[in-house]
Amino acid sequence: LGVSSSQALAQAYPTRNITMIVPFAAGGPTDVIARIVTGHMAQTLGQTIIIENVVGAGGTTATARAAKAANDGYTLITGHMGTHAASVPLYPKLAYHPEKDFEPVGLLAGTPILILARKDLPPKDLKEFIAYVKANESKINAAHAGVGSVSNVSCELLHSVLGVKPIGVPFNGTGPAMNALVAGQVDYMCDQIVNAVPQINGGTIKAYAVATPERNPSLPNVPTTTEAGLPAFQAQAWNAIFAPKGTPPEVVAKLNAAVVKALDDETVRKRLLELGSVIPPAADRTPAALGTLVKNEIAKWTPVLKAVN
Ligand code: MLT
Repeated sequence: LGVSSSQALAQAYPTRNITMIVPFAAGGPTDVIARIVTGHMAQTLGQTIIIENVVGAGGTTATARAAKAANDGYTLITGHMGTHAASVPLYPKLAYHPEKDFEPVGLLAGTPILILARKDLPPKDLKEFIAYVKANESKINAAHAGVGSVSNVSCELLHSVLGVKPIGVPFNGTGPAMNALVAGQVDYMCDQIVNAVPQINGGTIKAYAVATPERNPSLPNVPTTTEAGLPAFQAQAWNAIFAPKGTPPEVVAKLNAAVVKALDDETVRKRLLELGSVIPPAADRTPAALGTLVKNEIAKWTPVLKAVN
C-alpha cells in the first residue's frame, strides 16, 4: 500500500472486529483485566473486541504469535510483566523481543502480588509459613502459570529470599491454578491480587501477605510483607496492551485514547479497584511511558532472574 492509502486505512480504523489475544487461560488475572478494559474500549471504538485465550509456555507461545500477526491494529495482545520482561532472561531462544517486535499501546493496571495458600495449610501467618516452607521444602508445592509467568517469577523471588527451592506445579494460567488451590490440590501460590480477592473474602483460600509497601484497600485485613516480617519480598506486576511492530501510529493513538477513556470510566475503575488493582495515573498511560516501563523491567528482572536460576 502507498503511504496515502495506508494513512486512509488508519484514519478509518477500526472498520471490523479486533482480536485481543490473552496469553493465559480464561478466568485468570490477565483475562479478567483484558475483559474489563476492552469491554469499554469496544464502545469507544465502535467495534467488537474478541478475546482469544492462547495458552502455553508461560504466555510466550501467544506472545510469539502476536508478534508475527498483521500490524494493522486488528490483532493485539494483553501482555504483562512476565511476557514482556521476565521472559527475556528466562527463555534464551525467545521467539520475539518485547521491545523490538511490539508497539506499546497502553498500561492497564498494576497488580500487587499476594502470598496465598490452600485454606487448610497448617501455618496461620507468614512467620509460620516461612518456617513451614523451610521444614517441608521437598514436600510442599507452589502452583504457577508456567516458566516466566508472573506467578512463577514472583515465587522464584520469594524462594530466593527464603533460600528454598520447593516443587513448582505449572498450569495454563492462574485461573486454573486458583481452582486447584481452592480444591486443596496444591499448597500455595504467589498470585496477582485480581485473581484472589473474591476467594479470600469468601474464605476458600487464605492470604498471608501482600508484597507491597502499603496494605491494599480491597483487602484491609491482609498485612504487608513488611508488617508480617518479610520486608525483602516486594512484588507488583502490571498488565498492558501491545500491538505488533509497525502498527500505524494513528491506530496506536486511537487504541491508546480508548484505553485512557476506559481507565477514566467510573464502572471500569470500580471493578478494577474492587479487585485490588492499581489504576495507572495519567502520566503512566501513554505508549511512550509503557515503552519505558518495558525497557526498565527487562533491565530490572534480567540480573535478578539470572541469579536465582
Ligand atoms: C501469571 O502468573 O502470569 C498470570 O497469573 C497469568 C494469568 O493471567 O493466568
